Amino acid sequence: MNDKERYLTVALTKGRLANRTMELFERIGVTMDEMRDKDTRKLIFVNEEQKLRFFLAKGPDVPTYVEYGAADIGVVGSDIIMEEKRHVYDVLDLGFGRCRMCVAGPERAADLLQHREMIRVATKYPNIARDYFYNGKQQTVDIIKLNGSVELGPIVGLSDVIVDIVETGSTLRENGLKVLEEVCPLSAHMIVNQVSMQMETERIRSMIQKIRMELAG
Ligand code: PRP
Repeated sequence: MNDKERYLTVALTKGRLANRTMELFERIGVTMDEMRDKDTRKLIFVNEEQKLRFFLAKGPDVPTYVEYGAADIGVVGSDIIMEEKRHVYDVLDLGFGRCRMCVAGPERAADLLQHREMIRVATKYPNIARDYFYNGKQQTVDIIKLNGSVELGPIVGLSDVIVDIVETGSTLRENGLKVLEEVCPLSAHMIVNQVSMQMETERIRSMIQKIRMELAG
């Protein structure tokens, strides 16, 4: 490898997606031994040989790092890409982290949805919810932004429904809520900074190609 080659920086979403992403990178020959240490509080990991740096960030911050060029590449859920609307290239669906963005609530809320009533919608994803109700369904709703445990909304009477991620469905089930409408399917995607794509075309393209081939099995 050329000594003058600069480091390519990859922003990963902390948690489950990061583990799946590192497994994928290992399969294409990129190893980051330090990252395997589950107890580490380190946020950034360097592979000197391959001139790669990986760092861990909160999901919604990943597209921000990539848009500003602090990371050349990011791996993040498509829910966050849709919500954050950052100027980045969405280059590859990685196929893991599959789940659905849904409208959910108690059974009785189905009527409110059907009759396009003015309802309250609690969500961590106000842009996705607005786009779905206002542009998709032409339904005026009141959107209330929450930061987590959104399922509480209809239970404690803050909202009629929620717009949230459903993976196994157990959070909904255990709280007496149901999927009422499906907004869209979701999965982990790879995003790329627009300038990096021009400046480092070859390295980034070859990385995408290796991953694509690995995913195709
Ligand atoms: C996500 C999501 C749901 C849950 C869905 O929450 O917001 O609450 O997972 O998964 P399930 O269908 O498999 O039950 P997360 O765990 O990220 O926590 P949060 O609600 O505090 O954001």
